Amino acid sequence: MFEVLPQLAPDPILGLSVAYREDSNPDKIDLGVGVYKDEKGNTPILNSVAKAQRILLDRETSKTYITPQGNQGYIDGMLSLLLGEQSRVLMANRVAAVQAPGGCGALRILSELLVRCSAKTKVWVSDPTWANHIPLIGSSGLQLETYPYFNKAATGINFDAMLETLKKTEKGDVVLLHGCCHNPTGADLTNAQWDAVLEVAQERGFLPFLDVAYLGFGDGLEEDAYGVRLMAENLPEVIIAASCSKNFGLYRERVGLAAIITENSQTRQIAQGQIQSVARGIYSMPPSYGGALVDIILADEGLKHEWVSEVNAMRNRMQTLRAMLVDKLEENGAQRDFSFLNTQKGMFSFLCITPEQVLEVREKHSVYFVESSRVNIAGINQQNVDTLAKALVSVL
Ligand SMILES: Cc1ncc(COP(=O)(O)O)c(C=O)c1O
Repeated sequence: MFEVLPQLAPDPILGLSVAYREDSNPDKIDLGVGVYKDEKGNTPILNSVAKAQRILLDRETSKTYITPQGNQGYIDGMLSLLLGEQSRVLMANRVAAVQAPGGCGALRILSELLVRCSAKTKVWVSDPTWANHIPLIGSSGLQLETYPYFNKAATGINFDAMLETLKKTEKGDVVLLHGCCHNPTGADLTNAQWDAVLEVAQERGFLPFLDVAYLGFGDGLEEDAYGVRLMAENLPEVIIAASCSKNFGLYRERVGLAAIITENSQTRQIAQGQIQSVARGIYSMPPSYGGALVDIILADEGLKHEWVSEVNAMRNRMQTLRAMLVDKLEENGAQRDFSFLNTQKGMFSFLCITPEQVLEVREKHSVYFVESSRVNIAGINQQNVDTLAKALVSVL
């Protein structure tokens, strides 16, 4: 039966990890897969998470199923983080939400919910966007369109072109926006640009679909929520897919949140029932463990404080690494100005070099990152930054 299916090419990012593992060069550098790494190249379990695991071990008395909706303490904690403790939409009971298996799970079930509203819905995604947005959203049957976002030649956001395209959207269209730390470019909207996008959303009536996978990795947990909160507080309807993979370091536990802000509390009830039914039809109920840990952390003042400090430390480290790379590139004689890297946010940056240069630096210097020139900033450290800068300068 399966012989009718075509052989697929390996996933480019996972293929890159295999090539990296097989490379015998002791000075090889991995800037491919998007996971946070510490100075030693490890992806650690956060201290706050390790403590929550011990508490959960003592507290958990059953492994029976949780509900399709998930852990309510987790959902409430996440909604406060995303929308703010004083959120008017939360107080007005206008938010439906479920715990989802990772940010990917949230993106997919929200897409399936949109299909239930209308299979003809158009979803506008940024050019470029995270590669997995295309299958996660597109495979549900929704029609994908792109809006201009990043101009490689100008090493920044092409905001005028983005707005111009958004002004052509129609009522009922959906616009996917990265809440913060745009993947793959690291180029984020300023608050004034968010304000302008809101105005267009109000004028045109599109539905913002916010993907928030890196809250706290940009400027701070509160600061990074600017766009999400602005849309939530000023529009009748907004949908949000959030992930705890990066900021809680819970990648393998698969914990995320799908939230729907509705026009009123009656519609909230409809949306809540529908999103649970979507989830029931795909995976029945989410895994419990990651959500239980986040619930424990966010409900305990001491643990929450520790977690916030850990998020701040990860963010500050990545900002330092960006600055170090920019300095080292200059020190090693780069003819181009790379200071734009310092203005980018989160785990990723576009180096804005050509695919040929990316391949050359991989083949000659064992530096691994994807052809778009997206690098995982967290893969840089004090030991490898000079080697990296020299390798990059040699192919410029
Ligand atoms: C932009 C973006 N959205 C969503 C996700 C989903 O992450 P996960 O499913 O691991 O929670 C990621 C992960 O890399 C991402 O980069």
